[in-house]
Amino acid sequence: MLTIGVLASGQGTNLQALIDAIKEGYLPGRIGVVISDNPQAYALERAKKAGIPAFYLPPGPRKTYLVSEVEKQYVECLVKHQVQLVCLAGFMRVIKRTFLSNFPNRIINIHPSLLPAFPGLEAWKQALDYGVKFTGCTTHFVNEYVDAGKIILQAVVPVLPDDTPESLHRRIQEKEHFIYPLSVKLIAQGQIKYGE
Ligand code: GAR
Repeated sequence: MLTIGVLASGQGTNLQALIDAIKEGYLPGRIGVVISDNPQAYALERAKKAGIPAFYLPPGPRKTYLVSEVEKQYVECLVKHQVQLVCLAGFMRVIKRTFLSNFPNRIINIHPSLLPAFPGLEAWKQALDYGVKFTGCTTHFVNEYVDAGKIILQAVVPVLPDDTPESLHRRIQEKEHFIYPLSVKLIAQGQIKYGE
């Protein structure tokens, strides 16, 4: 059975979608550990409620990424909990070399746009500002570039004339909660090859 490790910085609704999918027997796997770089992350509460080991690991001195020493601590925690696949679920830091070399092609992410459009922060707001008529969400393997690895699945969300950033993000998240568990399920069942 696939053991998953989840990294989350915030609300953790995608974590919840994975927890629920496992509980319902839809996703054949288990979550071995949840780690956050934010002590206030509600994701940590969700994990504890589900009986999953959950840790805040201090992110170190940099705002946008974990320095190598800190990445090492994250990796050690994941390895200790027998994690085979790392799922980034609203983890708001760039993944660097120490992480990638310890989990080669074993890290996936969910991003709130149709990549390669709108990488980076607040992708739903970028889409709204740009004026696109359709946006959506993407699951992808993580490589050394930001939001750039091999795509696993995408879902399309129309942009409505009276959308606000919040309403658009909410509808994108509904689709995220469908494609993230499905992506992990396909990987667990060997139906998707790990990204090269
Ligand atoms: C999600 O919309 C996810 O796609 C996004 O953060 C949100 C986390 O929500 N991730 C990124 O923007 C990564 N670049 P959640 O904490 O409720 O799962």
